[in-house]
Amino acid sequence: MASVTTKPNTTMKATLGSLILAAALSAGGNASAQPAPPAPVPPPPPQNNQQPPPPQNNQNNQPPPPQTGKAPPKRPHDQHTPPPFQQTNPQTVRPGDALPGLTPDQLAAFMDGKDDFVQRETPAGGLGPIFNRDSCVACHSQPAIGGSSNVNVTRFGKSLNGIFDPLEALGGSLLQDNSILGHGIELIPTEANIVTLRQSTPLFGLGLIEAIPDATILNNVKKVKIDGIQGRAAIIQDISSGQTRVGRFGWKAQQAVILSFAADAYVNEMGITNRFFPTENAPNGNTALLAQLDKVADPEDVVDPKSGKADIDRAADFMRLLAPPPRGPITTSVTTGSALFQQVGCVNCHTPQMTTGTNKIEALNLKSVNLYSDLLLHDMGTLGDGIAQGNAGVREMKTPPLWGLRGSAPYLHNGRALTVDDAIKAHDGEAKITRDRYLLFTAQQKQQLLDFLMSL
Ligand code: HEC
Ligand code: HEC
Repeated sequence: MASVTTKPNTTMKATLGSLILAAALSAGGNASAQPAPPAPVPPPPPQNNQQPPPPQNNQNNQPPPPQTGKAPPKRPHDQHTPPPFQQTNPQTVRPGDALPGLTPDQLAAFMDGKDDFVQRETPAGGLGPIFNRDSCVACHSQPAIGGSSNVNVTRFGKSLNGIFDPLEALGGSLLQDNSILGHGIELIPTEANIVTLRQSTPLFGLGLIEAIPDATILNNVKKVKIDGIQGRAAIIQDISSGQTRVGRFGWKAQQAVILSFAADAYVNEMGITNRFFPTENAPNGNTALLAQLDKVADPEDVVDPKSGKADIDRAADFMRLLAPPPRGPITTSVTTGSALFQQVGCVNCHTPQMTTGTNKIEALNLKSVNLYSDLLLHDMGTLGDGIAQGNAGVREMKTPPLWGLRGSAPYLHNGRALTVDDAIKAHDGEAKITRDRYLLFTAQQKQQLLDFLMSL
C-alpha cells in the first residue's frame, strides 16, 4: 500500500492554489535547486481579479547563478539581497500572506523561511535515504504555499489486547514510501494490524496558535461539561525546549512548538537529520541496509554560523509568521449559521476564540485567535484512528481548527469526508449528542451552518 496518496481536488480553491503554486515555482521558488538559463522576467500569473499579485520570492528578481557544471550550492542564503518587501495589508490578507504588522526584519525572516519551505531537497543535500516527498510545499500548497493538500501519509502499528505498539523496530509508526536509490522503500510489515491515512494540515496562523499560553488551553478543560463532552490537554515533552508543554499541533496534538514540528517533518517526511533528530530512519528498521544507503554525515541540516539558523529554524520562521486564513463575506445566512453552530453545541469543542499571551513579536502579542478549536483531545469513538501518539490514545483526536475550512477539503484526519456534511456526520464518541442534534436540522438550517463554516 502506498503511503502517499492523492485524491482528486474537490474545490475551485484547490485549482486556483495549484495555479498560484505552479506560477510561484516556475517563477523561481526553487531556483537554488534547479538553476535555469538566464531568461527574461516571466509574465505575471493569470489574474482573475483586481488584487495585486502575491508577494514574490525575492530570488525571482535575481538572475540565476551562472552555470559552471558544478552542483549549485545547497543554500544561497549569503547571496540574499533585501527584496522590495510588501507589508501585508490587514484589509486584504490572502492565504499564504505574512501576518500584517511585521517589522522589516521579521518580513525578511518570513521570505527567507519560505525559500526553505519550497526548496526541493537533493540526496547530496541530505534527502533520504528513505522519505515521503522532497519538499515541504509538496504536501502544504493548497490554496497557497503553507496550506494543506490532498496528500496523505500512512501510519501503522499493532494493537494487542487494547495496547498500541507503534512497531518502531520495524520502521513505524510513520511509513516512508520513497527512497533515493529506489530500493529500501518501506512496506507495511505483516505484524501491523492498524493502518491509517493522515491528511496534510494547513499551516496558516500557526504562530498565533503557538502563542496561546498553555494555561489558556488547560482552562478549556475546566469548562462546564455538557452533552457528554470531556476534553483533555495533551501533555507532551517538547524536544526543542526540553520542557513539559501542552501539545496543540498535529491531528493528535503531538507537538507544542513549531520548531519541534519542523524538525520532526524534516527527518520523517524528507529524511533530513537535524540537531533535534540526528538519527536517520532505517528502512523498516533495517540498520544494515541504512548503513549501505546513507552517504551523508549527520546531522544533515546544520546551523549557518552567519545567521545562527538551520533549515528547520528558517522553515519555522515562515510558518510562525503566516497570517491566519481571512474571513469570507458575512451574509445573513452566515450570521444565522453562526447562531446554529452555538445552539447545537459545536462551540463546546470548536471554541471560537482564544487570546495569545505576551510575545516579543508584536504581530503575535496579545492577539485574538479565531481558530474554532479548544486544542483539546476528545474521545471520538469510531472516528478515532487506532493510533496512539504523543499523549493521545487510540480513539482520541484533537479538535482541529475550523478557520480556513473552505480551502482545506477533503476533511477529517484521513481525508475521507469529501464534504463538510460528511465530516459532521462522522462525529462520534464525545461528539455524538451534538451530531445527533445536527441530524435533526432542516435542509435550510444545514445550509446556513455550512455557509457559516465556509466563511471561516
Ligand atoms: C508527505 C507529505 C508531507 C510533507 C513532505 C510535509 N508534511 Fe507537514 N504534514 C503532513 C501531514 C500528513 C500532517 C498532519 C500530521 C499529523 O498530525 O499526523 C502535517 C502536519 C504538519 C504540521 C502541523 C500543523 C498543524 O497544526 O496540524 C507542521 C507544522 C508541518 N506539517 C510542517 C512541515 C514542514 C516544515 C515540512 C517540510 C520539512 C513538512 N511539513 C513536510 C504531511 C507532510
Ligand atoms: C466532542 C468535540 C466535538 C464536537 C462537539 C464537534 N466536533 Fe467537530 N471535530 C472534532 C474532532 C476531534 C475532529 C477531528 C476528527 C478526526 O478527523 O478524526 C472534528 C472535525 C470536524 C470537522 C473537519 C475539520 C477538518 O479540517 O477536517 C468539521 C467540519 C467539524 N468538526 C465541524 C463540527 C460541527 C459543525 C460541529 C457541531 C455540529 C462539531 N464539529 C462538533 C471535535 C468535535
